[in-house]
Amino acid sequence: MRVAMIGSGYVGLVSGACFADFGHDVVCVDVNAARIAELKAGGIPIYEPGLERLVADNVAAGRLSFTTDIAAAVRGAQAVFIAVGTPSRRGDGHADLSYVSAAAREIAEAVDGYTVVVNKSTVPVGTGDMVESIIREARPDAAFSVVSNPEFLREGAAIEDFKRPDRVVIGANDDRAQQVMAELYRPLSLNAAPLLFTDRRTAELTKYAANAFLATKITFINEIADLCEEVGADVQLVARGIGMDKRIGPKFLNAGPGYGGSCFPKDTIALIRSAQDHGVSLRVVESVVAVNDARKTAMARKVVRACGGSVQGKTIAVLGLTFKPNTDDMRDAPSIRIVDALQRAGATIRAHDPVGMDQARKVLPDVTYAADAYDCAEGADALVLITEWDAYRALDLARLKKRMVAPIVVDLRNVYRAEEMARQGFDHVRVGAKPNPRSSKGDRRTYQPGQGEEAGQQPATNHGS
Ligand SMILES: NC(=O)c1ccc[n+]([C@@H]2O[C@H](COP(=O)([O-])OP(=O)(O)OC[C@H]3O[C@@H](n4cnc5c(N)ncnc54)[C@H](O)[C@@H]3O)[C@@H](O)[C@H]2O)c1
Repeated sequence: MRVAMIGSGYVGLVSGACFADFGHDVVCVDVNAARIAELKAGGIPIYEPGLERLVADNVAAGRLSFTTDIAAAVRGAQAVFIAVGTPSRRGDGHADLSYVSAAAREIAEAVDGYTVVVNKSTVPVGTGDMVESIIREARPDAAFSVVSNPEFLREGAAIEDFKRPDRVVIGANDDRAQQVMAELYRPLSLNAAPLLFTDRRTAELTKYAANAFLATKITFINEIADLCEEVGADVQLVARGIGMDKRIGPKFLNAGPGYGGSCFPKDTIALIRSAQDHGVSLRVVESVVAVNDARKTAMARKVVRACGGSVQGKTIAVLGLTFKPNTDDMRDAPSIRIVDALQRAGATIRAHDPVGMDQARKVLPDVTYAADAYDCAEGADALVLITEWDAYRALDLARLKKRMVAPIVVDLRNVYRAEEMARQGFDHVRVGAKPNPRSSKGDRRTYQPGQGEEAGQQPATNHGS
């Protein structure tokens, strides 16, 4: 089949490359001429494991190409996907649909022959109706259907998710469009990936509901983590204990600094706004947004407490800046708010991220970027682990400690074991467990006795201080 993919970002490029890999003939389009030029030259504008190879193979096989010419891509395509951004609208949190409607207008100008216009962007219920009327008004003669096919891939595991999804949701209001979609995804259904056919509005809402539910799960365990810190329980074991219940499941139960990224923050708010427009208040989701928002600054306060109550004039080393490992995506990353709060409290920040530093420089300019984790720890009064990249999971703790002024580690992802950190002589502050002061054998360089012990003995909570 001939496919046009409008928008060549994290979703469009991965989906386009995967459809090409299934054997379809795909043209990826973008308004960003530099992005298309880079792709044509064999470069990959985003970091996504395995993508470079997948793109190169399919370009070489003649199934995947790139253009800024949307009309040329749409003409003759049986399916035209819209995979453009739907960020939060400035001021009110509604999904900004201006990119979707611009794409729909451009598709309308070029559409010829029966075409299925597939919305892959995450959008509020009713957006399919909007796209349909934009095209219908511009081209009353055109033969087309508008389908909702929300994307559930995760950055960092996007290709695997696309090729082996838990399910593909297809919201089509007519049989002809449904058949085209079934044909497009046929290679997946051969792999027994369930295709769930629904009406268009149901598919649109399913995506927002899925993201809101996952955000709720994360936020729930984060609040339980706060309680664990107060009562001396261990949130990792609580999470295991509840996750073994098949009705709950073990995923998305890692307590941490709160969710971020390009989807959950904007999608939860957009869902709330969309519900309000229809006179419905989603109070659970509203609480999730508020709790998660407060958590970022609470994490900064946790660092301040670990440093004995003040970070004024101190150097804080930050490991991991992207919103999760295996992506370079900095959109709404928890690190942004945490670093900002620490800087406002007087700290100097040294930071490292395996692939996100180019993106991070744009949003966190007043930070010293280090060559690696050890360089980052140089002269630090405390080290904060924000994103659990593999590169930070087995650090040489003795080497790290030698570089630091004070052996304090705030481990916001619970990567390190408390006993090991104590043995190595670190004050180790975790999420959802009592902080672990270092063992008395731990040596210090210029660390002032008293400070660490005091902070270490106080239960670190996520509530004010
Ligand atoms: N990133 C994810 O993990 C993820 C997962 C599932 C769903 N989504 C949803 O998918 C959509 C796209 O997200 P993304 O992360 O790929 O965004 P992105 O910002 O990485 O990519 C969007 C691309 O669309 C291009 N674009 C905008 N208007 C255009 C137009 N009129 N014609 C052609 N190109 C245009 C932009 O230049 C950009 O390159 C969003 O609605 C998002 O919520 C994202």
